[in-house]
Amino acid sequence: MFICAVNVIFLVCFCSLHQTFGQDCPSRNEIQGSLRQVQKLLSAHEASYMQSLRNLKKKISALQSSAGKQTSKTINSTCPKLDALINGRKLGKSHLVGHEVYFLCDPGYELVGSETRVCQETLTWSGQQPICQDINECASSPCLNAGTCVDEVNQFSCVCAKGWTGATCQSPVPTFLITITNTSATAAAAAATTFPAATTGPFVRPSRCTTVQGTTHCTCEPGYTISGRDSYTCADIDECELFHNGQAGRLCLHACVNTPGGYRCSCPAGYDVTRDGRSCKDIDECATRQNNCSKDQMCINTFGGFQCVRVDCPKIRNATYVKTSPMRCERNPCPVENKACSQTPNSFSYHYMAVVSNLSAPRVMFRVSALRQIGDTLRFSLLGGKQARRHFTVQRSDRLTGQLMLVTPVQGPATVEAEVEMSELERRVQVGRYITKVTLFVSQYDF
Ligand SMILES: *[C@@H]1O[C@H](CO)[C@@H](O)[C@H](O)[C@H]1NC(C)=O
Ligand SMILES: *[C@@H]1O[C@H](CO)[C@@H](O)[C@H](O)[C@H]1NC(C)=O
Ligand SMILES: *[C@@H]1O[C@H](CO)[C@@H](O)[C@H](O)[C@H]1NC(C)=O
Ligand SMILES: *[C@@H]1O[C@H](CO)[C@@H](O)[C@H](O)[C@H]1NC(C)=O
Ligand SMILES: *[C@@H]1O[C@H](CO)[C@@H](O)[C@H](O)[C@H]1NC(C)=O
Repeated sequence: MFICAVNVIFLVCFCSLHQTFGQDCPSRNEIQGSLRQVQKLLSAHEASYMQSLRNLKKKISALQSSAGKQTSKTINSTCPKLDALINGRKLGKSHLVGHEVYFLCDPGYELVGSETRVCQETLTWSGQQPICQDINECASSPCLNAGTCVDEVNQFSCVCAKGWTGATCQSPVPTFLITITNTSATAAAAAATTFPAATTGPFVRPSRCTTVQGTTHCTCEPGYTISGRDSYTCADIDECELFHNGQAGRLCLHACVNTPGGYRCSCPAGYDVTRDGRSCKDIDECATRQNNCSKDQMCINTFGGFQCVRVDCPKIRNATYVKTSPMRCERNPCPVENKACSQTPNSFSYHYMAVVSNLSAPRVMFRVSALRQIGDTLRFSLLGGKQARRHFTVQRSDRLTGQLMLVTPVQGPATVEAEVEMSELERRVQVGRYITKVTLFVSQYDF
């Protein structure tokens, strides 16, 4: 109180001085007058402060004497200690005569017995020792539809009868069985549009709900989400639809199949799903018994399938050919002076290649090399029809080597053939021709 008063005075002084400085210089008389007023104020406050102090001293001594009397008088007048309250609290520590204690129970418990007890002159407590009893939340039968109530501290839970769900078993479990009582066509159509997912079973699951302080939170198993219809039903997430054009690329290399709670990738016939479950890898039917090529055929594994091929040597007039290896035919020696024979190709080689559809171009598909040069010139050229010319060209890559180039992508499924002719010349006269037939099996898919 005193400190407050001084503060106020000081503030007043400061303000008045400050104010005067802000204006024209005040006269000496004016300043002396102000100071006298402040002095008066101070002495008035001093007097009132001294008075307050005296009063305070009186009160303290009065308290001291009364406290002394009380302790001497009530030295033995206490009631016995009270038992602690289980699941509750006791308010009030004094056990002196005339004092009161209060009892409070923890949330979820209710007090049975005396709420307050007073320490009586007889040095006994009034009333009965109370206890805190668990409140039976099930007493009001909160579970509906024949649900069983389980009492828990400060709450309850319901074990629902079959066909019911929700915190108090208030919602029927959706079954999505369409019962069409009116068999007219319009009624059937209406029912079908109301429940587009007109299926029972794995694509719909009940949600798991918990009620906390009156708010119900429902959650679903992974792969399911709360359906729009009600929060007690979880609907399968269609990952294939959801991630159709995901930033991380396609979910599946080929096809996505939505499954209850998940998805899987599927591959076309002739492919297996890879270990990562996302891509497809070709099945080698030739390595396994999954092909039906006969003994005189060769099995060529292609992307997504296989081809059975048989190398038959060509029938050309004036020359005969013999198979010298499974993939090569050579001309039998020509009779002397048979010019027609000597101009036929010396050999035919066969090559089969499996490629994927839409293979990027340009790229080298095949190389043909002469082991040694007999003549003075080596020439490489492309034979074959329009189709071969549309997709291929032949280039020389070094002195003894020519290469077959793919120049435009081939869309599968397709089989494309090209022939590379290598001819040797000696003083501009052809001394040898060697044909290499390349067959490309182009798959349907670009993987
Ligand atoms: C106080 O209590 C003690 C023992 O607890 C007893 O010996 C004494 O006589 C009591 N005095 C009074 C005034 O009751
Ligand atoms: C069946 O539907 C038709 C028209 O949609 C209606 O007239 C008829 O009363 C319905 N019958 C029943 C049994 O609901
Ligand atoms: C192999 O089986 C396929 C049908 O799976 C049939 O079209 C084809 O002709 C068979 N090839 C041979 C060589 O038997
Ligand atoms: C090619 O062979 C036929 C008989 O098959 C013969 O008549 C013809 O004269 C031959 N041609 C040449 C150029 O020798
Ligand atoms: C072929 O591949 C190119 C790029 O590599 C792509 O732009 C094009 O769409 C593909 N065509 C087909 C039919 O897949």
